[in-house]
Amino acid sequence: MCGIVAYIGKREAYPILIKGLQRLEYRGYDSAGVAMINKAGTLNVFKRKGKVSELLAFVKNEDTTGNIGIGHTRWATHGEPNDVNSHPHYSQTKDLVMIHNGIIENYAAIKEGLTKRGHTFLSQTDTEVLIHLIEEIKKHENMKLDHAVQAALKQVIGAYAIVVLDKNDPDTIVAAKKGSPMVIGIGTDDFFIASDASPIVEYTKNVVYLEDEQVATLRRGQELKIRNLKDKEVTPYVQELTLEIESIEKGGYDHFMLKEIYEQPRSVLDSMRGRLKANEGEIKMGGIVDHEKKFEKAKRIIFVACGTSWHAGLVAEYLFEEFARVPVEVEYASEFRYRNPIIFEDDIVIAISQSGETADTLAAIELAKSKGATVLGVCNVVGSSIARATHGGSYTHAGPEIGVASTKAFTAQVTVLTLMALHMAKVRGTLSASRYRQLCYEIEAIPGKIEEVLKLNDKLREIAFIHKDTSNALYLGRGVSFPVALEGALKLKEISYIHAEGYPAAEMKHGPIALIDEEMPVFVIATKGANYEKVVSNIQEVKARKGKIIAVVTSGDTEVKSVADYCIEIPETDEFLVPLIAVVPLQLLSYHIAVMRGCNVDQPRNLAKSVTVE
Ligand code: G6P
Repeated sequence: MCGIVAYIGKREAYPILIKGLQRLEYRGYDSAGVAMINKAGTLNVFKRKGKVSELLAFVKNEDTTGNIGIGHTRWATHGEPNDVNSHPHYSQTKDLVMIHNGIIENYAAIKEGLTKRGHTFLSQTDTEVLIHLIEEIKKHENMKLDHAVQAALKQVIGAYAIVVLDKNDPDTIVAAKKGSPMVIGIGTDDFFIASDASPIVEYTKNVVYLEDEQVATLRRGQELKIRNLKDKEVTPYVQELTLEIESIEKGGYDHFMLKEIYEQPRSVLDSMRGRLKANEGEIKMGGIVDHEKKFEKAKRIIFVACGTSWHAGLVAEYLFEEFARVPVEVEYASEFRYRNPIIFEDDIVIAISQSGETADTLAAIELAKSKGATVLGVCNVVGSSIARATHGGSYTHAGPEIGVASTKAFTAQVTVLTLMALHMAKVRGTLSASRYRQLCYEIEAIPGKIEEVLKLNDKLREIAFIHKDTSNALYLGRGVSFPVALEGALKLKEISYIHAEGYPAAEMKHGPIALIDEEMPVFVIATKGANYEKVVSNIQEVKARKGKIIAVVTSGDTEVKSVADYCIEIPETDEFLVPLIAVVPLQLLSYHIAVMRGCNVDQPRNLAKSVTVE
């Protein structure tokens, strides 16, 4: 959460910062701010509550010149979102300014000490406390900025990615990180810093991912210097970015979310490419090959994740238990980490995360590792903290997901987890060869089937129009479609602010049925499979109370069609693979409803995509 960007070199910093902040807005958009030092040595700081567009309007006639600068887009933690709490923050003398992504947990104690020593604070933020501390150390110990940053960070408990500017040294930027991500781009005669590579990729492909507790000094015309908090010099490991600029632009779509929904045939295919050879009945997953013995012997699998990724874990529970006959638990990472869970050395813990940065998931991984479990990751962002913290795993290859509401990451996660479950089944000998082969062929056909579902967009827009003004909605599913109901409800509530709940269809009669009246849309996944007749009965129960049924059914269905108010027909597939297809119309319905209600679908209120705070 929070996006940071910085530049030092020969170009004008401001346009680079603004473009970078717009790319990072998915990380938070409570406020935005920039600081530049101009040719005359004046430090100009502009910050504003709201989105980057509001900052742009605010600074229209101001001096934004200078070829060194920092920028920040905020997701508020300490202090309400207002102009004063916006970043950058000044030190006591206003000579230093800083941007920060993360949380300084012991800021109150540090602030108390500083206040006693005469410091006064303008904001309620933890960030302002840290920059005051850095300045105090710099002055009292007569240190250079980078050494003062090192010394201050030794006193800090918490997470940070910070960038500091000194008005009196317009040729230097100092940056440091722990727990929050930071990428440094190395240009021909300039440096870039950002929370992810998206603000950097159009200028350079050479990047260094800063590691925890490292401090980077970026001096104009000099090589990048990195030291750790113990002042040991570290040789920067320069990597080449594979990210393409087109993948982070809207490409003609009105919203990133819509683009990402439409990318799913491709992202699902990319997630199985090179791994699944249906013809040869082979699934190869490089990142787990070294753990095959563990797969064979595992007594249990525990999935840890948050949000949509947790729903992917719930789908995986059905697949791993069915195919590999291994007991599975699916845990909210935030609960798991604080519960003193019982973990055995022959457990496999699989962390699922699009961003690879979610703080709770990262903490759950550390806990599982400390108890001796094998920890694997299913991440989308290559080189992310979770990908690096795990013993192995498989990337999802969905490409950058920018819409805050997750869509293509979910289907890519379910694809990878399906392959893993089948692979584990093969290793453990729990599936017949013919069933295994049949499933491989079915998976291969999924991208084409998603393509078919996307053709229903016009019909889905019509259904969305009819239900756009509802204030409640219920989503029902059974078996492997139950997590799809949860995901459908989450999509609707997070982008359209309509209250929605997902339920196992049979549980409806233990509570939610009381809510049903002629106003209440009930979305039901009623595709063909073992539970079909039971779901049809649940639909009848809703109809008997005059509820409106919008059913996702298997193409050619007649039974549900005869009772439902609206039917969305999706191609037939194996019942365990239904989530990969059935979720797509639910994503589109939510998207259209949110657009019709005038909501900002890509950046819903109060949410952020990369949740680096617990
Ligand atoms: C946030 C995002 C969700 C995401 C969740 C977990 O809440 O808005 O879209 O599912 O975090 O994020 P992760 O990156 O770990 O999958």
